[in-house]
Amino acid sequence: MSDSVSICVIGSGYVGLVAAVCFAEIGHKVICVDNNEAKIKMLNEGGVPIYEQHLPDMLAKHLNRGVEFTSDLAYGVQNSDAIFIAVGTPQGSTGSADLSYVEAVVSEIAHAMNGYKVLVEKSTVPVYTNEWVSRCMLRHGVEPGEFDVVSNPEFLREGTAIGDFLHPDRIVVGANNDRSAELLRRIYAPLSNGSYYTREDALPGMLSEHNPATLLVTSAQSAEIIKHASNAFLALKISFINAVSNLAEVVDADIEDIAAGMGLDSRIGPKFLRAGLGYGGSCFPKDVAAFYWVAQQQGINFQLLEEVRKINANQQDIFFNKVRGALWTLRGKKLAALGLSFKGDTDDIRESPALDLVRKLIDAGANVSAYDPAAMEKAEAILPPSDQLSYAFNAYEAAEGADALLILTDWKEFGRLDLQRLHQMLKFPIVIDGRNLYKPAHMVEHGFTYLSVGRPA
Ligand code: NAD
Ligand code: UGA
Repeated sequence: MSDSVSICVIGSGYVGLVAAVCFAEIGHKVICVDNNEAKIKMLNEGGVPIYEQHLPDMLAKHLNRGVEFTSDLAYGVQNSDAIFIAVGTPQGSTGSADLSYVEAVVSEIAHAMNGYKVLVEKSTVPVYTNEWVSRCMLRHGVEPGEFDVVSNPEFLREGTAIGDFLHPDRIVVGANNDRSAELLRRIYAPLSNGSYYTREDALPGMLSEHNPATLLVTSAQSAEIIKHASNAFLALKISFINAVSNLAEVVDADIEDIAAGMGLDSRIGPKFLRAGLGYGGSCFPKDVAAFYWVAQQQGINFQLLEEVRKINANQQDIFFNKVRGALWTLRGKKLAALGLSFKGDTDDIRESPALDLVRKLIDAGANVSAYDPAAMEKAEAILPPSDQLSYAFNAYEAAEGADALLILTDWKEFGRLDLQRLHQMLKFPIVIDGRNLYKPAHMVEHGFTYLSVGRPA
């Protein structure tokens, strides 16, 4: 581990925490900083604030060895050569990214400087943020030669975050000079030269079958745009297949066959062609809006992105109407809702289509019994149990006596339900599947009325 770099990661959320433990995993010395004292206390006691595969093991492996946690930002900055900023950049009032957390952190870094450091934008930020970060450092009295700013966007997905970080499709380094690019090259060397994948103590599944990750060096502006453009393109792909699914449904075609047929074209590819309730999460909705705003600021009307957003919003309405259409009226009906997180394998409920739908059903007078394998605690905190909403211990308890069962999140376990047991639990054997987890013919064989997305009823 001769080429270990001292790294400070600011923000211990989904990205910061994963980056911190993964940098430790590839041999660096990491200080992870958060201003949420409760989170830092929990982490220091070995607790894991988010549900993420492999994270508990990685934390246990590196806590107080490769990685330490603190709320003292100056300590983190002063003992590091590279400072990764991984705080939130939520949607602001005009659709633009709210960069106030980034600015607050940069001001604090400026006051803690004790020598040359590279500030790394890990958060998703609009183009030219690197210039604003530089300007902010200078305004706070830091000399120009004392720092550089690099854009190193993160492409991990929640639910597979550790694997994605350690085996990325690409690592993008947006640097405007060689000195800062070189430091980032050193940091990622175990992944880009492949040495990590041959280590015996590497995360299982990361061993030598993995080719070295491609590291692409660009300008900072290009890197900032690569991140926004990638997320917007993936959102567009999902909206495209969702729009096609609506056509498929009307003409009795099957969206799963259509997606398979399209995906076999290597220029299109099979990924991100799953029709459903529309995309959610803390990133696609805000990043599509922010990218649209970025273009607008430069006098470019990126209307396509507005259409992507509209199709996505419409997709949820279509599903809601499908539920109403199947049940005639909603007031007083009992509905079992499977899934609350914005997708499977995570407890993240930010911008969750599932949670939005539960809210709409309650507003329409329905009684909902909800179940999610990981997100119930977070859901309960913002949508407490009431006369119309209860939380069940499992899918079957949620289904007990329900007029219909709705599948809202693509957790694997929802695709492997004991159908006989489910049939017995439901008042009426109606399943409305927003994630296409079952084959329609199979459900009909088991005696269900089965409605899904973009497939013949
Ligand atoms: P998050 O909300 O989970 O975590 C942000 C953390 O920053 C919080 O723990 C918060 O307490 C901390 N923080 C805020 N202000 C601080 C300050 N002044 N000092 C120290 N800590 C502070 O956010 P996230 O989901 O990890 O996303 C972070 C960024 O990464 C966003 O820009 C997001 O768009 C981007 N991103 C997220 C993902 C993802 O899957 N969540 C993937 C790629 C990129
Ligand atoms: C997404 C990107 O995939 C990551 O590359 C990126 O780093 C991240 O956003 C980010 O910038 O935060 P994530 O939001 O964790 O990752 O989850 P995805 O797997 O991309 O799913 C996003 C949403 O799209 C979910 O609601 C999911 O259900 C939906 N989706 C995804 C579909 O409806 N269909 C699909 O085919 C794929």
